[in-house]
Amino acid sequence: MTLPRTLTAQTTDLVGQTVKLQGWVHTKRDHGKLTFIDLRDRSGLVQCVGFKLMSELTTESVVSVVGTVQARPEHLVNPNLSTGTVEISVNEYEVLNSCEELPIQIKEEENSVDESVRLKYRYLDLRREKLHNNLQLRSDFMAALRAALATHQFTEIETPLLTKSTKEGARDFLVPSRFQPGKFYALPQSPQQYKQLLMTAGFERYFQFARCVRDEDLRADRGFEFTQLDLEMSFVSQLEAMSLMEDIIISAVEAVGGQLKEKPFPVYKYQDAIQQFGDDKFDLRTPEEKEKGILAFAWVVDFPFFKKVDPKDQAEVRDSKSGWTFTHNPFSSPQPDFLEDHLAHQNIDQILASQYDLVCNGFEVGGGSIRAHLPEVLQATFEIMGYSPAEIEVNIGHMLTAFKLGTPPHGGIAFGLDRLVMLLSKENSIKETIAFPMTSTGRTAVMLAPAEVEPEQLKELGLQVVQQK
Ligand code: AMO
Repeated sequence: MTLPRTLTAQTTDLVGQTVKLQGWVHTKRDHGKLTFIDLRDRSGLVQCVGFKLMSELTTESVVSVVGTVQARPEHLVNPNLSTGTVEISVNEYEVLNSCEELPIQIKEEENSVDESVRLKYRYLDLRREKLHNNLQLRSDFMAALRAALATHQFTEIETPLLTKSTKEGARDFLVPSRFQPGKFYALPQSPQQYKQLLMTAGFERYFQFARCVRDEDLRADRGFEFTQLDLEMSFVSQLEAMSLMEDIIISAVEAVGGQLKEKPFPVYKYQDAIQQFGDDKFDLRTPEEKEKGILAFAWVVDFPFFKKVDPKDQAEVRDSKSGWTFTHNPFSSPQPDFLEDHLAHQNIDQILASQYDLVCNGFEVGGGSIRAHLPEVLQATFEIMGYSPAEIEVNIGHMLTAFKLGTPPHGGIAFGLDRLVMLLSKENSIKETIAFPMTSTGRTAVMLAPAEVEPEQLKELGLQVVQQK
């Protein structure tokens, strides 16, 4: 009869029994005729001992061992290992996959490898305990967010990846069409317009863990692709929306052991934040709180709706025709006090948006707003940015149509999942929270993209590569 597999963590309850363990050779030590290995599986480690057995094993090989669980004598108990009270006396074993010389070491203390090597062998890098724990935390946090959203009756809905170029303030990644050569899809910078259309569709409360893609300069807290917890709801005031979103964040953060400095989260006006901290992303922690990894969330509100275009920012230059562009999101609504000015295109620099950002420990971890749901309000935003009626039709005609067919008032937010997990796991870069991140020069992990493609592929798409001068 074949033995079922036992996990290493279960062995402490099975003294005297014969078990089959399967996993990786974490460490190996030879003492004369005795060979000790620490066998690692998803539940942890356990020490296995072989008499005239296993000495040829290499670390990180995958093995299946059958042996007897033995209680260790008192003086040999290893208090640093959760299975330290037992060891496995190995009777037989099989190598399922042997490991050649490792290009990077797996044990935590040997973590001094160059980033490009770590990413080339990311599957090895991911065997490290720290990265393993980060990805587990990410999964647990997502599960806690989903649970919190479910209690508030949110519906999870996916939206397209191949879509149309949208105005979200960054450059798009374009995808050429084979059926319509010369035309392009754009990968979504966010599901902004689709989620608003889901409000028109009557879902009232939507969420999605949305992959977003933006061609912008890479930084420790910014990737070409990243994940948002994107949500939207109908029939809510700005205060109601913020309070519900805060509940969801608090419940999920606490569910995974995150410690909050303050709740409810303090609210800062944009102008006050700039005056007090010189930035709208600020860190409210004391040095001791920084040591302890406390999370200091705060809301920022009352942002100006528009700003003058920065001539050095190509995406901004392209988005605006008048020299004015949006600070956050063209789909936001002006605050009610500024609606008249907005519709009349006057006092543009004074107009405040019903925008709210969530900051934590000096990072922007979320941004959202109450939206313009009336066609004339959204149209006025694009008019202020200098769009002609024809340009408005091409860019947002579909939204204006939906806004004339029974769209409820609505608002929402998107949280940066990678940044939240980075802060929860006390890391300095979102790369430590993503399974296969890019290098800082935009090369993918393991498989080196971007890469050249076959000439036939280009021909099919009607594309020609020209040398840039
Ligand atoms: P925004 O552009 O502010 O809003 O994005 C929301 C949140 O996503 C995170 N984020 C990023 N994380 C990693 N890498 C990036 N390149 C990156 N860009 C943004 C940030 C940010 O706060 N559609 C609106 C949301 C809405 O209004 O509902 C939007 O995308 O944490």
